[in-house]
Amino acid sequence: MLKAEAAARALMPRYGVGEIRVPALERIQLYQRSTGETSDVVEKQMYTFSDRDEAETVVALRPEGTPGVVRAYIEGGLDRSDPEQRFFYSGPMFRRERPQKGRYRQFYQFGVEVFGRADAACDAELLIMIDDYCKSLGLPARMEINSIGDPTCRPAFREALVKWGREHWNELCADCHKRIDRNPLRLLDCKIDAKLAESAPSSLDYLCPDCRAHFDTVRGTLDSVGVRFQVNPRLVRGLDYYTRTAFEIMAEGLGAQSTIVAGGRYDGLVEAMGGAAVPGIGFAIGLERVALALEAANLVNGTVIDAVVIAMGDAAIRQSALIAHRLRAAGLAVEMTSALRKLKASLSRANKIGARFAVIIGEDELARGVVQLRDLAQSTQREVAVGEVAAAIAEAGRN
Ligand code: HAM
Repeated sequence: MLKAEAAARALMPRYGVGEIRVPALERIQLYQRSTGETSDVVEKQMYTFSDRDEAETVVALRPEGTPGVVRAYIEGGLDRSDPEQRFFYSGPMFRRERPQKGRYRQFYQFGVEVFGRADAACDAELLIMIDDYCKSLGLPARMEINSIGDPTCRPAFREALVKWGREHWNELCADCHKRIDRNPLRLLDCKIDAKLAESAPSSLDYLCPDCRAHFDTVRGTLDSVGVRFQVNPRLVRGLDYYTRTAFEIMAEGLGAQSTIVAGGRYDGLVEAMGGAAVPGIGFAIGLERVALALEAANLVNGTVIDAVVIAMGDAAIRQSALIAHRLRAAGLAVEMTSALRKLKASLSRANKIGARFAVIIGEDELARGVVQLRDLAQSTQREVAVGEVAAAIAEAGRN
């Protein structure tokens, strides 16, 4: 789990996202107004209790991070003074669900929320960020995206779903019978028969020209940078605030709870919560699920190490310490070792911890101001001048 979080944190500076900390305890109304009265989370999964103040304010343990971030954003006046903001948060969430593998009552989310960006480039940038995250962990994952429209085109889609739901009433579950008028989009999540949804109307057939153009740009941008995804026209989200782009990322080996990341656009939420009309979009990573997926894919080996610097004999220790120091200063994760043991043992340790490179310095290299740079993934080795090791690693890492 620490690895799952560390990899997400490491990405944030590269995307210009700053940390925000929001309370774990909030008034219940916050979630009723944002997560939504018709969502399962608010209907049946929140941990709530009355405070001891005079008004007996009802408070809830946060079931998700987005509402608290939106509240903080509005209360800080940013929606009016400086609307374009990017935040990340990490911490425990609480939902009263039936526990099973990958589904817990207290679980950890790492979330990102971006405000003030209505353009499709922003949707694409977040999806590229998620793709980067999975790649940085070496985790194979499947990305599904959809557009669920906006207030212009959603009503017609809702209507079509209600009509379809009535036609298939006997095949739907009891939850869906309740949802049909309140939140018909959720009919697509019917638990009884996953195949049934295939005959349901597709949100993509109902998109207005603006929503369609937006979705096309998201798709085209992902294609241009080589991010693989599938369009799933039946993908809907369980929380009420979403508009336009919605997405889920699934990993192998998790059984029923395979969604490791989920999110989407929520353009009306800031305004609905009393702020200015500022668009928003975000996602949350389920950290336990990522940890389980890493375990299933045999990818748990502690920290990610870029290079192991190996001093062959005492004389090379100072030089190797200097090189390790420079590599760390260049942003690389480095372990240093002196080969009192045999080189072979040091290399097998480097392989075991998943290091990509070994930097080897013996007496001969020391005298000539060079190192042997071994690419452990490619099984190749070459001589590099001491001052050029960081650049050589960065260059090889890009290939
Ligand atoms: P969510 O789909 O409810 O979205 O949760 C996001 C992720 O949290 C899920 O995909 C899953 O990995 C993890 N998760 C949810 N419930 C549990 C649980 N009971 N046990 C373990 N993991 C769980 C949200 O929460 C939105 N706030 C995401 C978002 C941010 N949308 C826009 N901005």
